[in-house]
Amino acid sequence: MTKLPLPTTTERLTLRQFTPGDLDDLYAYQSLPEVARYLYRPPLTREQCAESLTRRAADPAWAEDGDDLVIAVCRTGEATVLGEVVLKLASTRARQTEIGWIFNPAYGGRGYATEAALAVAELAFAELGTHRLFARLDALNTGSANVCERLGMRQEARLIESHLDGDRWGTECVYATLSHEWKANRS
Ligand SMILES: CC(C)(COP(=O)(O)OP(=O)(O)OC[C@H]1O[C@@H](n2cnc3c(N)ncnc32)[C@H](O)[C@@H]1OP(=O)(O)O)[C@@H](O)C(=O)NCCC(=O)NCCS
Repeated sequence: MTKLPLPTTTERLTLRQFTPGDLDDLYAYQSLPEVARYLYRPPLTREQCAESLTRRAADPAWAEDGDDLVIAVCRTGEATVLGEVVLKLASTRARQTEIGWIFNPAYGGRGYATEAALAVAELAFAELGTHRLFARLDALNTGSANVCERLGMRQEARLIESHLDGDRWGTECVYATLSHEWKANRS
């Protein structure tokens, strides 16, 4: 199992593991239809948030395909969770990691998601040995596409009408960056 060096800080934020005490904050954004709009699943109930917190607060594994690490994002010095950044081990052998982000819209438009995602992407490459970091998103999710682009990820695919979002054919975009590209962009 690989452990991330958490908590860690950025200019404005603290990234840490979730705790059972984060239920109200987690539910505040995970229950919103506007937040779940492009998550390929409905908003979460309070019970589902509580269940997911139990898993998140336990020691997370990073060993097998499908393992994930969900990182809580707070403003430094404050306990309120603004949102989360998720890493998912898509292929252990090929060191492929998927990244995603979900933030409370009450704290949107201030660059917090981008700032947190940059720090988590750095952890993915530096601590987890990721070779390729990618994100999948609905083509209509421009806020998320903007985060990918601010991270320096390249759009690699546009899968036209590749999923059903209710009755709507959804188009999925894939963004990615490689370890050596990430290092070169930062040096
Ligand atoms: C995707 C999501 C995280 C993007 O949120 P966001 O608020 O647009 O992203 P950021 O927090 O990085 O903020 C960026 C904005 O803050 C602005 N900003 C303001 N102050 C800033 C600062 N000090 N530093 C950086 N950016 C700043 C930026 O200009 C940018 O505005 P723009 O989008 O109008 O150009 C959010 O919409 C979300 O959680 N959506 C629901 C869940 C979801 O769909 N997740 C993705 C699944 S693939």
